[in-house]
Amino acid sequence: MSMKNNVVRSPLFYVGDKYKIISDIKSHFPKDIHRFIEPFVGGGSVFMNVDAQEFMLNDIDENIIAIHKMLCGYALDRKAFFKKVDAIVKQYGLSCSYKKDIVPQNLKKEFVKTFYARFNKLGYEKMRSDYNQSEERSAFVLYMLLIYGFNRMIRFNQSGDFNLPVGNVDLNHNTIKALDDYFDLTAIKKPQWFSLDFEDFINQIDLTSNDLIYLDPPYLITFSEYNKYWNDNTENRVLNLLNRLNGNNIRFAISNVTHYKGKVNQLFLDWSHQYNSYPIKSNYISYHDNTNKIFTEVLVTNF
Ligand SMILES: C[S@@+](CC[C@H](N)C(=O)[O-])C[C@H]1O[C@@H](n2cnc3c(N)ncnc32)[C@H](O)[C@@H]1O
Repeated sequence: MSMKNNVVRSPLFYVGDKYKIISDIKSHFPKDIHRFIEPFVGGGSVFMNVDAQEFMLNDIDENIIAIHKMLCGYALDRKAFFKKVDAIVKQYGLSCSYKKDIVPQNLKKEFVKTFYARFNKLGYEKMRSDYNQSEERSAFVLYMLLIYGFNRMIRFNQSGDFNLPVGNVDLNHNTIKALDDYFDLTAIKKPQWFSLDFEDFINQIDLTSNDLIYLDPPYLITFSEYNKYWNDNTENRVLNLLNRLNGNNIRFAISNVTHYKGKVNQLFLDWSHQYNSYPIKSNYISYHDNTNKIFTEVLVTNF
């Protein structure tokens, strides 16, 4: 694995994953980072692509952190990881295109765009109900549900059951590449994991001016599963925390979306004027197209 020009992607394929724009974001980071601290780590595509001596990573979502910890546990023994993958694939009769193409030709012809979902549906549903019924839920099986599930997401219903339907994907070469990169990198980076509210997480660290805190909170004005509990109050908590860190000479960089489909995050925009604000080139929509400001992403730093 070469990190020089390559950008690596997290094997969690997280919604809001920063992997397409990490090079742009990183170009604004300082060279000398002692501890890289992420209060909203999500899938982890940012820390994977940043150099630092230590990594302290947090997300309020305990399932996400459980998956990260589980994967890190296999960083030095990926053979054991893939052996377990094989056993689960076999147990539930799932397709696994990175190993062998077992989906029958007639299914592929009949359902040209959805044959994986057709093939894996029953096995996936059995895996999901076994997971939901198990007394001690396994982060490994949750990861397999993510990989074979709809849009590679994690979603639980109000009774606490994993409830996504089967996806039209399987464990393919891209997944293997992402896993290999993750194992390589975490074996070296040895991250420390936390699952706390961002403020409690930051408050328990004895911060120094050599640290860099990178924040990628949920966005007030866009939609996703993890934006549900995000509101003006949580946004204000982040902004006040950052003002306090700035007063203590602690470096921070925060990503946010300021404009989205006619909506404006005025709270963030007003606050950001006292710091440095850099437009981030989105892969999807031209930032310079001011006639149609569908989506504007920025990075705000205090250094
Ligand atoms: C935009 S996503 C981060 C994506 C990440 N940068 C990546 O590349 O995958 C925001 C994350 O904040 C987490 N989150 C939401 N509220 C939080 C809180 N109060 N404290 C800590 N994390 C929180 C969500 O679970 C979600 O994973």
